Amino acid sequence: MIGSANGTAISITGLGCRVPERVITNDELSTMMDTNDEWIRERTGIRERRIAAPEEALSDLCLPACHDALEQAGLDASEIDLIIVATVTPDMAFPSTGAILADRLGAPDAAAYDLSAGCTGFMYAVAQAYGMLAGGLAKKALVVGGDVLSRILDWSDRSTAVLFGDGAGAVVLEAVPAGGFLGFELGADGSGGQQLYVPAGGSRSPASEETVAERMHFVKMNGREVFKFATRVLVSSAQAVLEECGRSIEDVDVYVPHQANVRIIEHARQKLGIPEEKTVIDVDRYGNTSSGSIPLALADAAADGRLRPGELVLMTGMGAGLTWGSGLIEWTAGGNG
Ligand code: ACO
Repeated sequence: MIGSANGTAISITGLGCRVPERVITNDELSTMMDTNDEWIRERTGIRERRIAAPEEALSDLCLPACHDALEQAGLDASEIDLIIVATVTPDMAFPSTGAILADRLGAPDAAAYDLSAGCTGFMYAVAQAYGMLAGGLAKKALVVGGDVLSRILDWSDRSTAVLFGDGAGAVVLEAVPAGGFLGFELGADGSGGQQLYVPAGGSRSPASEETVAERMHFVKMNGREVFKFATRVLVSSAQAVLEECGRSIEDVDVYVPHQANVRIIEHARQKLGIPEEKTVIDVDRYGNTSSGSIPLALADAAADGRLRPGELVLMTGMGAGLTWGSGLIEWTAGGNG
C-alpha cells in the first residue's frame, strides 16, 4: 500500500515515551547465559536494554508516555477520539490495551483498540490514524507503540534474548495549518511469517502443558533470514515513499529507522546514501523495543533538538509478519516543544 497526502495537513503535535527503570547491561546478561559484551556489541551494537519490573505491564509504560504526549500537544485526554496501540505484548489478549488506556487516561469518547504488525506496528498505526483523521472519522488521535518483549523472550535462548528490550512511546496526531505527513508505504509478506514468530497461545495452538513444556510461547527467530529481509525492505520502502511523495534522499533531514541492530541500520543508511549525522540511533541503550522503537527514537531525537519545524523526517519500520512500513513527515511545531 502506498499513498501521498492530499487535503488536510495532519501532523504530530505531541510526543512522549517511557522505558522501565531497570537497566540490564551486556555484562549482566553474560552472568545469565553463555554470551559476552564483545559478541553482542559487534553483532548488534547493543550495550544495554531496559527490562520491565514484574508488576509492570504494557499499559503502565504507555500511560505516562501518553500523558507527556498530551501535555506537549496541550490537550486533555477527554479531547482524544481515537487511541491505537501498536503492540505484540498487550496487557492481556482482551480487553485491548487501547481500551484499558482509554479508561486510565479518561478518554470516554475515544474509539480504542490494538494493532498487531510486529515491530512495524507503530508505522501501521500512524498511517491508520492519519487515514481516519484525513477522512473525517476522528479529530485528535493518540497513537502508541510499545512492547514488553521481555515477557515473551526465551531467556535460555541467547540468540534472541540479547536483542530486545522494553519501552513505549506515544504521539498525538491532529490537523495543523501546514506541513505534517506527506505519505506512507506499508507492506506485508506473510510467506516469511515463521522467520519470526511465537508459535503457541493463539487458536492454532492454544496454551497447554505441552506448549508450555516445549517453550512455544516464546519468540522464535531465524536471525539470518530476518537480517536479509530487514536490510532489503529498509531500503526499498524508504525509496518507495520518497518517490511517491516526489522527494529525494537528499531532502531527508532526519532518518529514524527501526532500532533492531546497528549493522542493519548502517547497511540501510549506506545503501540509501543518508549521512551518519542525519541518522538517529539509540539501539545501543534500549535494544530492540519492537513497536516502541520508532517513537522512542523520535523522542530521543526531539530531546537532542534534532527535530525542527520544516525538517523532513523519514521513518521506516520492519518486523514480524513479515511487515514493513515507512512514513514521511515535514516536522511541525510541537513534538519538540
Ligand atoms: N552470544 C554469543 N554467541 C552467540 C550469541 C550470543 N548472544 N547468539 C548466537 N551466538 C553464536 C551462534 O551460536 C553462532 O555460533 P556457531 O558459529 O558456533 O554456531 C555464532 O554466534 C554466529 O551466529 P549467527 O546467528 O550466524 O550470527 P549473526 O552474525 O547472523 O548475528 C544476529 C546474529 C545478531 C541475530 C543477526 O542475525 C541479526 O541481527 N538478525 C536480525 C535480527 C533482528 O533484528 N530481529 C528483529 C528484527 S524485526 C523485529 O524487530 C521484530
